[in-house]
Amino acid sequence: MRAAVRAGLLDEDAPLAAFIDLRGIEETAAALREAWPKHLDVRHAFAAKANCLVPVLRTLRGHGFGCEVASAGELAQALAAGFTPRELVFDSPAKSRAEIEAALAAGIALNADNFQELERIDAFMARAEAGTHSDIGVRINPQTGLGGIEAMSTSGEHSKFGVPLRDAGSRARIVDAYARRPWLRWIHVHAGSQGMASKVIGASVAAVAGLALEINQACDERRVVGIDIGGGLTVDFEGERAPGFAGHAQAILAAAPQLARGEFRIVTEFGRSVMAKNGFMASRVEYTKVAGGRNVAITHLGAHVATRTAFAPESWPLRVLAYDAHGMPSRERVTTQDIAGPCCFAGDLVARAYPLPRLRQGDIAVIPDTGAYYFSTPFRYNSLPMPAVYGFEVVSGEVRFTLLRRAESIADVVAETLGQVTAQGRSEAA
Ligand SMILES: Cc1ncc(COP(=O)(O)O)c(C=O)c1O
Repeated sequence: MRAAVRAGLLDEDAPLAAFIDLRGIEETAAALREAWPKHLDVRHAFAAKANCLVPVLRTLRGHGFGCEVASAGELAQALAAGFTPRELVFDSPAKSRAEIEAALAAGIALNADNFQELERIDAFMARAEAGTHSDIGVRINPQTGLGGIEAMSTSGEHSKFGVPLRDAGSRARIVDAYARRPWLRWIHVHAGSQGMASKVIGASVAAVAGLALEINQACDERRVVGIDIGGGLTVDFEGERAPGFAGHAQAILAAAPQLARGEFRIVTEFGRSVMAKNGFMASRVEYTKVAGGRNVAITHLGAHVATRTAFAPESWPLRVLAYDAHGMPSRERVTTQDIAGPCCFAGDLVARAYPLPRLRQGDIAVIPDTGAYYFSTPFRYNSLPMPAVYGFEVVSGEVRFTLLRRAESIADVVAETLGQVTAQGRSEAA
C-alpha cells in the first residue's frame, strides 16, 4: 500500500484502485499443478468468469492454464489473451446456434447443456464434411444436493444447469444419447461454487464417473475418454487460509477411484480458488461519521465492485484492513465500523459493525481476497466507472506496478449509454 500511495495510484482523483499479485498467481498455479498426481492426464482450464481481464488470462496461460469460457465475450477475451482453440472449453447453458457452430468449426471443446443443444450439434455434424476436432461432452447435473450457498449450488434437484441424472428415465436417455453419437466422448460436471464441501464435489464427480463407465459398457468401447470435473473449490474469505488444492484433489480421487487409476483424462475449471487471494481493492476514506452511535466510513468500495457482498452479505463476507494515508498499517484504536460504499442505496456496505482500527478521512480501507468475481466483473450501478487494476511484483525489494486495466473515465461511461451515437455525440462525450 505504501508503494501504491507513493506511486500516486491512490489519491483524491483516483480514490479506488484494484491490485493483482502476479507472483501470487505463479505460486497458485504451481500449487494447483502439484496437487494432482503426476501420472494422471490433468489439464487445468481457468474459469474466465472469475477474472476475465485479458492480461490476467494471458498471465495464467503463461503458467500453463487452459481456459473455460461461458459466453462469446469470454471466448473473445481468451482468444485475445493468446489461448489457442485447443486450450479452451466452452460451457454455457444458453449457447446460440451461431456460437455452437463457431466453436465446433474452430475445434474448441464444448459441453452441451441439454438434449436440444445436442440436436443443434447433430445438425452441424450432418452438414460439416470434416466433422470437428472439438472434444464434446454433456454437462450432467448429478442432483447430489446443495452446498452452503443455494444460489451457487448447481447440483440441486431443480438446477438450471445440465441434464438431471436422477429424474425418471433421464439416466437411460443420457446413455442412449451417447450410444447414438460416436463423437460424444467427454462428460462434464460442475457441482457448484463457494460453500460446496470437497466431499460433496467428490460425490458429484463419482456419480458422473459411474455414469461414464455405464456408457462405455453400453457402447462396448471406451466411448467416454475424459471427465471435466468443473471448479468450485471454496475460498476462505474470513481468514488467510490458502486454497486447499491438495486436499480437494485427494477428496475427488478418493470418491472416484476410476479417476485415480487414470481411466479417464481430467479437465478442471477452477476460478475463485485461483484468483481470489491474488487480488485486493483499496479505497481512500472519503468521509467518516457517526450514525446511531456507530462509526461509518464512507469509501469507494461499494456494490459496483463488491456486488455479491452488498446484496448477500451473509453469504459473501469480506475482511477489511485499515491503512493510514501514507499506506502504512493503521495504529488507531480498534472500534466497530460500517464500511460503506458510494452507491445510492442503504445496503451499499461491504462490512457491517466490523472491528477495525478507527478510520479517518484520507485513510485507506483495503479489502483482500477480491481477485475473483469482484472488480473484474463490475456492476454498472449509479454509472460508477470501473477502477484501474494494477499488477504488482516485488523486484529487488521494490514494488513494481503494471497497469492491467485503465480506470474508466466519465466520458467512457457516457459513451456507453449514448444510444444512437452520432459523431457529434461521441465528441461531446469525449
Ligand atoms: C461450468 C463452471 N465451471 C467452473 C466454474 C468456476 O467455479 P469456481 O470459480 O467456484 O471455481 C463455474 C462457476 O460458476 C462454472 O459455472
